Amino acid sequence: MRKGIITLIALGALTVSGLSACGNDEESDDAKTPKIGVILPDSKSSARWETADRKYLEAAFKAAGVKYDIQNAQNDKQAFQTIADQMITSGVNVLMIANLDSGTGKAVLDKAKQQGVATIDYDRLTLGGSASYYVSFDNVAVGRLQGEGLVKCLADKGISTPTIAELNGSQTDNNATLFKSGYDSVLQPKYDSGEFIKGPDQWVPEWDNAQGSTIFEQMLTSDKNISGVLAANDGLGNAVISVLKKNQMNGRVPVTGQDATVQGLQNILLGDQCMTVYKAIEQEADAAAGLAIALAKGDKESTSQTVHDPTGDRDVPSILLTPKAIYADNVKDVIDDGYVTAAELCTGDITSKCAEAGIQ
Ligand code: BGC
Repeated sequence: MRKGIITLIALGALTVSGLSACGNDEESDDAKTPKIGVILPDSKSSARWETADRKYLEAAFKAAGVKYDIQNAQNDKQAFQTIADQMITSGVNVLMIANLDSGTGKAVLDKAKQQGVATIDYDRLTLGGSASYYVSFDNVAVGRLQGEGLVKCLADKGISTPTIAELNGSQTDNNATLFKSGYDSVLQPKYDSGEFIKGPDQWVPEWDNAQGSTIFEQMLTSDKNISGVLAANDGLGNAVISVLKKNQMNGRVPVTGQDATVQGLQNILLGDQCMTVYKAIEQEADAAAGLAIALAKGDKESTSQTVHDPTGDRDVPSILLTPKAIYADNVKDVIDDGYVTAAELCTGDITSKCAEAGIQ
């Protein structure tokens, strides 16, 4: 049905240009230019969505000369659905989503598919969904780096038999589950052997940073021995650090993170955060845009990997990129990669820390 409309529009454009004396077929070209819709989840759970994903996806689409529409659902599931409907009506050939949860993500993907629109799960796999591809990082590896990072930072500080608090991401984000399975694969054996003590362990609804600090405040009240915190991303890490600061405990308790945000990197250089996980979003955006463009042109791309969706019991063709652990001594790598600029990072009291870290 939708394809039919496009053909009609294209034919109409051809007819018009055919009648014109110069035979200019610009309009038919325009009607044929692939259009890609992208829905990002929110702008608060991590700085990455608006500062990195949008920027790199836009650059990739511009470079390929395709039409695109990138919108942000601002953590509103209803708005997510409305944006998707509008994009489908506007004739996108491909819809790429980072879902807010698998249930609402699936509804969007299934509807798009029914209308002949190809779909890609971007960063977050929609369990039970119908996307043609999934592009992300190896999210279990992300979690493993966080677990190993926490172990290293505790050792560096000479903290023995630490009590660990775990502040997980949103339980409705499949990635949060994967991160947790990654860091628990490192931490659980240590809890089992008695080397580490398992403290409070909680999910943070919708990755909400404010709720994260309330939850951590309660954790600290209930267990004064907390001496290491596995925080699932930089936003939650910063929420933890703010509570530690109030209790004059910052810098003494290692805290992890993820996303290599400006704030996370600053917290690392100040000694308040132990590590973050850098995911080269430019690579992720390029890979996803490449697939989207191929799909929009009707090509089928093969991927070297698949990811098993246990809910839908299907293997989804996937591209999974490799994450990297960042500590104070290699913050410079993120700058050298162009992900964050020295000007963004090195402000106020961070300036001297940047110089020490060889960043200018
Ligand atoms: C992403 C993380 C991000 C988190 C919160 C996850 O799905 O992979 O990079 O920090 O969502 O937005």
